[in-house]
Amino acid sequence: MADAKSGAGTDITSVLKEKRVFKPKAEFSGLAHIKNRAQYDRLYRKSIKDPEGFWGTLAEQELVWHKKWTKVLEWKYPFARWFVGGKINVSYNCVDRHLSSWRRNKAAIVWEGEPGDARVLTYQDLHREVCRFANVLKTLGVEKGDRVAIYMPMVPELPIAMLACARVGATHTVIFGGFSSEALKDRINDSQCKVVITADGGYRRGQTVPLKTNVDAALADAQSVQHVIVLRRTHEAIHFEPGRDHWWHEMMSASSNDCPPERLDSEHPLYILYTSGTTGKPKGVLHTTAGYLLGVTVTAKYVFDLKEEDTFWCTADIGWVTGHSYIVYGPLSNGATVVMYEGAPNYPEPDRFWHLIEKYRVTVFYTAPTAIRSFIRWGEQWPRRHDLSSLRLLGTVGEPINPEAWMWYHHVIGAGKCPIVDTWWQTETGMIMITPLPGVTPTKPGSCTLPFFGIDPLITNKEGRELPQNHGGLLALRRPWPAMFRTLYGDPERYRRQYWEEIPGVYFTGDGARCDKDGYYWMMGRVDDVINVSGHRLGTMEVESALVHHPSVAEAAVVGRPDEIKGQGIVAFVTLRGAVEPSADLREELRGHVTKEIGALARPDEIRFTDALPKTRSGKIMRRLLREVATSGGIVGDTTTLEDFSVLDRLRHQEEE
Ligand code: PRX
Repeated sequence: MADAKSGAGTDITSVLKEKRVFKPKAEFSGLAHIKNRAQYDRLYRKSIKDPEGFWGTLAEQELVWHKKWTKVLEWKYPFARWFVGGKINVSYNCVDRHLSSWRRNKAAIVWEGEPGDARVLTYQDLHREVCRFANVLKTLGVEKGDRVAIYMPMVPELPIAMLACARVGATHTVIFGGFSSEALKDRINDSQCKVVITADGGYRRGQTVPLKTNVDAALADAQSVQHVIVLRRTHEAIHFEPGRDHWWHEMMSASSNDCPPERLDSEHPLYILYTSGTTGKPKGVLHTTAGYLLGVTVTAKYVFDLKEEDTFWCTADIGWVTGHSYIVYGPLSNGATVVMYEGAPNYPEPDRFWHLIEKYRVTVFYTAPTAIRSFIRWGEQWPRRHDLSSLRLLGTVGEPINPEAWMWYHHVIGAGKCPIVDTWWQTETGMIMITPLPGVTPTKPGSCTLPFFGIDPLITNKEGRELPQNHGGLLALRRPWPAMFRTLYGDPERYRRQYWEEIPGVYFTGDGARCDKDGYYWMMGRVDDVINVSGHRLGTMEVESALVHHPSVAEAAVVGRPDEIKGQGIVAFVTLRGAVEPSADLREELRGHVTKEIGALARPDEIRFTDALPKTRSGKIMRRLLREVATSGGIVGDTTTLEDFSVLDRLRHQEEE
């Protein structure tokens, strides 16, 4: 495991010097939930001085409880329990509570499919569908505590399935529809899912994705699954296994609308989401009920300044944490209207997003820097064709945004009037952690600015010593927060070791960062063996494991290199087994192999065949050197621990033919 101890990132040189500052406009601040710096400072101070008082008050104000908690936080380092003794249901808070007012006929989900079909579900509609589907789950024997896998396109039935799980107390694990059957199988087996919810297929860039076929392949090696529920979406012919497979619409038509929510413990497991780490095996990040719900409810409200009349669009896929927290749980808990879109941003043309913003009069738009860089490449003419004047606030997430992309977003999409919230957080944190508040924080392009309430970051070296201003170091967090993950599913020791013991006494994020004289944070990317491809985390080890799985491959090392659109691209250095000869065909085969093992997002951009990899005397692959070779072709770093110097020369000359 390359980590804080490897020394990388403990004294990072920051090259970014950004001087521009953009103050929120008075018209915006005047109407915002949090209006000025004094208000932020006062609340922030309270949240740090008396976190239990602070979060306890919010929990009473923002959530509906079946039974109040007896203790806000029980912290036995590094394991936290929030709102101990409380009883609550997430689906009740996201749906039922809005039915007692005029909101019952407010749009909860405004959905558009890639082919152009559209649906609107009011909160009342959503309630009916969630209750019916919760009863379907019960009919199939799903009980409180069971795990359910969800592998679906971006259709309303996906949040309906999640909320139905939350209603009956089943723990869902949503698996991104772009993952392969292999990746699906691993995740189903790790969490021992009893039921899989899927669709015949989904639409993506004019093509269909064969979801059910992938499920069938995965289930050949997944014994825990008893039932599969299949939504009809693309109407393609699929294999149907009698007794195991059930049509969504048939089950729903026989189901009752009446399903009282389970009264669940505050710490009941809500979901598992698999994410990449520094080993070949993805880790199951476990989120629980009350603290998570409070964290996403409060951040959605204050960071996106959500008002009753807003139309909020987060463009993430629900297969990632951003979709869990800011398409489903955060906004719906606030009673907001969310837009949900099934397909690609450039289908049928590169203006689909702008078309949707105009059509639905979106007011708050949240997307990823990688998408913004694609928009820039496609050209300003596409957004210019549309009336984007409904927008009042913009957001970004997933990776550092380069200042030029920020400026384009500000001018071309925001017409120079919309604040931009650059939100830093992680699958593990569950909620936004470092971010501007749009009515308060002057923004600097490229900085995620200041900590949210209750969040206590520091920049440290690997021994845990705090570093001075403007010194690049490791980003750590000093105290627990309500939406924090509670453990890695089935592996509390790894949870402790990887996150809470790397740097003594604090949570280690895996990111490098610096903090400037104004207390603003500037993220500098991962310092471990995790790369960020199009805002999605991938462990280099995962791609390596997939490669060495191929019969021709002896050894592989994977590194990231800067990529103009994706943020980082994947370069794989591969040594072949004995008699195997390198060839262009083999290179293509290996790329396809990784796609099959993990999914298209892990497909290497470049594969370099080599007869040896640079290693230390203890046999550790020197990825730092490979990164240099992949990026610049030359080596400037220290090579004193390298075992075989000639390897480097050979690598440098091993260009992809
Ligand atoms: O490196 C940071 C980067 O994305 C990582 C978390 O990835 P994931 O768990 O997949 O969640 C992404 C969506 C929350 C972080 O460790 N990252 C996320 N947001 C930002 C960021 N880097 C810089 N600026 C951000 N705003």
